[in-house]
Amino acid sequence: MSINEEKFLWWKHGVIYHIFPHSFNDTDGDGAGDIEGIIQKLDYLSDLGVDAIWLSPVYESPWIDAGYDISDYKSINSIYGDMNAFKRLLDMAHKKNIRIIMDLVLNHTSDRHKWFQESRSSKNSPKREWYIWRSPSKKGKRPNNWQTNYWQSAWTFDALTGEYYYHSFFKEQPDLNWRNPELENEMFETVRFWLDTGVDGFRLDVINMIFKDENLRNNPITHFFSDRHVYNRNQPELYDFLKKFRALLDKYPDKVSVGEIYTLPPGNPKLTASFMGDGKNMLHLTFDFSLIFSRWNASKYRKIINNFYQAIPNGGHPCFVMSNHDLGRSVKRWIFAFNRYEKAKIHAILLLTLKGTPFIYYGDEIGMENVIIPKNRIRDMYGKLFFPFYRGRDRSRTPMQWNDLINAGFSAVEPWLPVHRNYRTVNVASESADSNSILNLYKNLIRLRKTHKALQSGEIEFTDFAEKGIISYIRTYEDTKIKVILNFTGKHRKIKSFNLKYGEILLSTHAQNREISGNTDILNPFEGILVKLTEN
Ligand code: NOJ
Repeated sequence: MSINEEKFLWWKHGVIYHIFPHSFNDTDGDGAGDIEGIIQKLDYLSDLGVDAIWLSPVYESPWIDAGYDISDYKSINSIYGDMNAFKRLLDMAHKKNIRIIMDLVLNHTSDRHKWFQESRSSKNSPKREWYIWRSPSKKGKRPNNWQTNYWQSAWTFDALTGEYYYHSFFKEQPDLNWRNPELENEMFETVRFWLDTGVDGFRLDVINMIFKDENLRNNPITHFFSDRHVYNRNQPELYDFLKKFRALLDKYPDKVSVGEIYTLPPGNPKLTASFMGDGKNMLHLTFDFSLIFSRWNASKYRKIINNFYQAIPNGGHPCFVMSNHDLGRSVKRWIFAFNRYEKAKIHAILLLTLKGTPFIYYGDEIGMENVIIPKNRIRDMYGKLFFPFYRGRDRSRTPMQWNDLINAGFSAVEPWLPVHRNYRTVNVASESADSNSILNLYKNLIRLRKTHKALQSGEIEFTDFAEKGIISYIRTYEDTKIKVILNFTGKHRKIKSFNLKYGEILLSTHAQNREISGNTDILNPFEGILVKLTEN
């Protein structure tokens, strides 16, 4: 492989860090994070070893949906700074070899966007067709039975022109009409604008929703968890769109696109991976959320991972994600269980040693947990709507825990969301000083990825299938073989098929016990271990 080709593949080898900007670091004392705050933490990110940052939306927005309701695609929300601050971030990050991936919402805009304002102003507006408008049926009913993601009608009546408009999410987020060529031109121009500004790629929000059935056919009525979105998601036109989008990106060197694919029920790797096309002509990467929805079970995990690998087209590449701003923290699943830090460590090893690009959600590297948000502090609209049954997504959007000082060092004033009360121990400063911390585990794993091509880009083969409660695999690159063994159980486990003396232990979550016991074929409860295999 030529050096150029190798360089082009940074998004296959690198580690990507997802920042929710409102909660990373507040430098202007308004209780919310800002771009300057990210700039000030670039050294931290560089020391952690990340290669790219994905920023949740930083554009101008009324914030009905935490910035996923954009009112101006070519601006920076003043709460975070301005375009100059953004360019400085880009510049400083690039100097440290950290790339910047923007979040791009193509499915909908904010209802405050000037396009929508124009579109709703009259049936004859030149921008009318940029959104999806329909007259009521003869009986005065909604155009069809499509629902939002929270089971309400997705059509809102606008008395100004006497028609309904369509929205997959809140009524303040009208869906764009991607069948309109002018809209497409304008959006592609926006994409070019950011590429010319120097960003390194895009995370494409709910990309499988942007096309809807041309005839707006009713969706089948099925049971709760099955796919009720036959005609308003995953439409065939999307594949052509993705080809065009990829062709645009490929005009610039080294860019990446990663698609968020919402599937019902969660975990449909074949569909998810289909949006990579032949592996070179559509999305570079697609998120598959199956692991996030899986229960803690080694064979289930192995199956999910394998299914995803099998679905990836030749030339395509997998990626993995354990937490995000919607689905909660990785540690969340065991909130009432013991050993959640041990399990979080196993997740860290999986994320950073499986074949595939890892996406780390900010704060996961210190083991941040979901926060139970009191009613009067809920900011997420879904939490407001569904309290007390569901408190919304704020739980995993809370301030980054930097140290044990006031507000965890995130802000000088009361932050927009409460800080987890565990911040005195779960924070960057104290974990940096503790060789056994989750933070140091992440650092060590990233360092090992960088020093061993086998972990970065080697092939993967699962082994030891007979061992219950164990996942183990070998990553191979040329002559180097690294074996990863993960004990998913809370018990000591003898590894029948393998003796650790046949290799050099590169990392163990239980390094101290291991030195004491000197055991060569017994795993500690929840131990994760990386062994560089030697000839035997
Ligand atoms: C997916 C985003 O991750 C989520 O936060 C948002 O609410 C919806 N898309 C709508 O944009």
